[in-house]
Amino acid sequence: MPLPEIDLTVYPDECDAFGHLNQASFLALFERARWEMLARGPGMDVFTRHATWPAVRKATIEYSAAAYPGDVLRFSQMLVHHGRTSFTLRQQARRVRDDALTATAEFLFVCIDAQGRPTQVPAEFTTFIGPRLSGADARRVTVNGVSLALDVRGEGPAILFVHGYPLARSIWSNQMEALDGWRRIAPDLRGMGESEAPDLGYGMATYAEDLIAILDHLGVERTVVAGLSMGGYVAFELVRRCRARIMGLVLVDTRAEADSADARRRRESAAQQAREHGAAAIADAMLPDMVAPGTKERDPALADRVWRLMAATPVPGIIGALSAMRDRPDSTALLPTLGDIPTLVLVGAEDRITPPEGARAMADRIPGAHVVVVPGAGHLTPLEAPEATTTEVRQFLARIA
Ligand code: MLT
Repeated sequence: MPLPEIDLTVYPDECDAFGHLNQASFLALFERARWEMLARGPGMDVFTRHATWPAVRKATIEYSAAAYPGDVLRFSQMLVHHGRTSFTLRQQARRVRDDALTATAEFLFVCIDAQGRPTQVPAEFTTFIGPRLSGADARRVTVNGVSLALDVRGEGPAILFVHGYPLARSIWSNQMEALDGWRRIAPDLRGMGESEAPDLGYGMATYAEDLIAILDHLGVERTVVAGLSMGGYVAFELVRRCRARIMGLVLVDTRAEADSADARRRRESAAQQAREHGAAAIADAMLPDMVAPGTKERDPALADRVWRLMAATPVPGIIGALSAMRDRPDSTALLPTLGDIPTLVLVGAEDRITPPEGARAMADRIPGAHVVVVPGAGHLTPLEAPEATTTEVRQFLARIA
């Protein structure tokens, strides 16, 4: 579940000559909210008990609206990265009277011991703050001016995993773990997961260029590309841009058509919602369609993890992805030309965003494509049916290796 929300009142002595909450006082309120959060969890002395102190290494803050004396601000906090000795908290403050987003801040902490040496984040704190979102400390690579997080595992021919919206590379954790004999590469697309989220510069072309730059950086000449949903749209863009480098396609819970006029309008209202109410509102709206109802009942912790992944997505990354999807080209004309690229189409039997009928129709248009409908999964087949997905992908890879 999300961490406790903390309500704090703005006092006149925190305001500037114009009567606005002063920017430096705002930083102090973010800190107060963090202490309150600890007080309602493992205790304010959790770090002292472990002789470890979190030192702020980097702080970024974006002020979106003014607050005035007497306003009550509601602070929400969320873990967005967790390493061995460091973690990053994203906090948002909203005015309670009208729910307006007033500021979003991100703090990178490094835990240090009494001698000032980096030391492990106390497990007691980690347990409170939530499971690690990414599973492992990411590698980082800067491509096209943006720092991207990625996991790289194993040796052998390459398979590149591209996640959907608004998600992160960790949706492929089972496949990353299990597909030995392959060099598994899973990046966070710009604006999502632990990758940097520039304000502008999003599009299918940019995502694809980032991935090509990652392949170049890793010295990967040819690769299988597995794309889930928006990751599938990126996979089609990769085919358009560097077809000779693609030795196989795994299209998961995705479609080839461009957005309809209605869908384009929905992208715009979702962007507005993200701007006004933040990523948590997007996560609330999307969760019911993301995972199958059965998944939610069987594994509430998984549904909670998906919510947290979505809610941790930076707002610029959400808005950027929405515009990239809205403006993406139609890829249906590409399908009949894919006969020379072995293709597996996977879809959750209960996927409501890209339903099985659409996946079958897409596979029918790709010469030689194999389609598998995975029972018990919604729109996030690799997470909801991890073993079945891995088995299908493994068999597919064995055929093309
Ligand atoms: C995704 O999962 O990537 C998105 O739901 C795709 C979309 O909205 O078209």
